Amino acid sequence: MVDIKLIQSYGRKRAKGLSVSQKNDLITLYNLYGIHISDTEFHPNSLFKKNFLSINMEIGFGRGEHLIESAIANPKEGFIGCEPFENGVVNTLREIHNNKLENIKIFNGDARLLLEKLQDNTINKFYILFPDPWPKKRHYKRRVLSNVFIRTLQKKGILPSAKLYFATDCKGYMQHVIENMKTLNILCNDDITELANKPNWFTQTRYEQKALSQGKTCYYLNVNLS
Ligand SMILES: C[S@@+](CC[C@H](N)C(=O)[O-])C[C@H]1O[C@@H](n2cnc3c(N)ncnc32)[C@H](O)[C@@H]1O
Repeated sequence: MVDIKLIQSYGRKRAKGLSVSQKNDLITLYNLYGIHISDTEFHPNSLFKKNFLSINMEIGFGRGEHLIESAIANPKEGFIGCEPFENGVVNTLREIHNNKLENIKIFNGDARLLLEKLQDNTINKFYILFPDPWPKKRHYKRRVLSNVFIRTLQKKGILPSAKLYFATDCKGYMQHVIENMKTLNILCNDDITELANKPNWFTQTRYEQKALSQGKTCYYLNVNLS
């Protein structure tokens, strides 16, 4: 059992009431592509029709742009997306259905609840892209990438090769994560200027687009979790 203390890490669960067709799709498509957790631990490959050698997880996928593009570009890899925000979940379920993708499963909820039920040493890559920044000091504890959470990722990841891909437009959050990595003795690039160079692994997401259109600098980190 992973020791996860669930502190609020996200804002709204829905932007406004879902339309009737969104509600219907949330039920129907979630039955096809959604993850229902129970008390039993599971291996992520048990979610899919076939076994994947590599399984990746995106935490807080928003409207799902990065998740969908990654799954289309890498049909031999499995993808699990976690997101409590229902509007984004419906949007992503529709994209999965329209693109007939058989390598994505969605969890509509807090990633920490799913991780708790996932077998250890099963995930190759974790993506956390533009998580809620919680810029006020008194809210830092709500940031999802805490030390406890990074330790959970280490446990669930296939070490020594498991990787974390993280992006943010909040310089303070990036510095906070670098400090956490140092505390946990995880080697990571701490040159904030270099981290502002957009890497080729990143597919534009809604939040990155919004940040860039406001003239903000974005930071991108990828680290080996061992
Ligand atoms: C600022 S949005 C970014 C969305 C998307 N990654 C992007 O770049 O456009 C952060 C998202 O993380 C989700 N989130 C926050 N805490 C989470 C958690 N514990 N598990 C899963 N998702 C979470 C929020 O619901 C929100 O949709």
